[in-house]
Amino acid sequence: MATSKKILALHGPNLNLLGTREPEHYGAVTLDTINRRLADRAKQAGVNYASYQSNVEGELVNRIQQAQREGVDFIIINPAAFTHTSIAMRDALAAVKIPFIEVHLSNVFAREEFRHRSYFTDLAVGIISGLGSKGYELALEYALQHAGD
Ligand code: DQA
Repeated sequence: MATSKKILALHGPNLNLLGTREPEHYGAVTLDTINRRLADRAKQAGVNYASYQSNVEGELVNRIQQAQREGVDFIIINPAAFTHTSIAMRDALAAVKIPFIEVHLSNVFAREEFRHRSYFTDLAVGIISGLGSKGYELALEYALQHAGD
């Protein structure tokens, strides 16, 4: 029997606070709701979905490395503030060579200058920024069509 495709969503620091955190930037939808919507859609498509959130850079690096051992086909990642700082997470994604989409709830290019730089974008399949929680759902639709290509 063919094993089903595996998609992993990774959420960086402070995204556990979604729903109450600066809703003018990040909206009112909680991370639990985002994950539930993605899990439901993945289930409907017959794809294995997992998600992981951490406020700790090294734990996210470990989770990326673990994804390779698990045979994850595609990653949807919002590195949050680590977008602008983390060479370690960038290196982990480069090492495991799992295709990924970079998602941001807010339009980082319409915000402070320091948010314009990402350590991830040039390695990403693509980036979705500014579409709120819908961005994750659109990223999943892409992943469902292209995971395992
Ligand atoms: C974010 C944008 C980052 O600049 C910020 O540090 C975040 C969230 C977003 O989803 O819009 O924590 O990645």
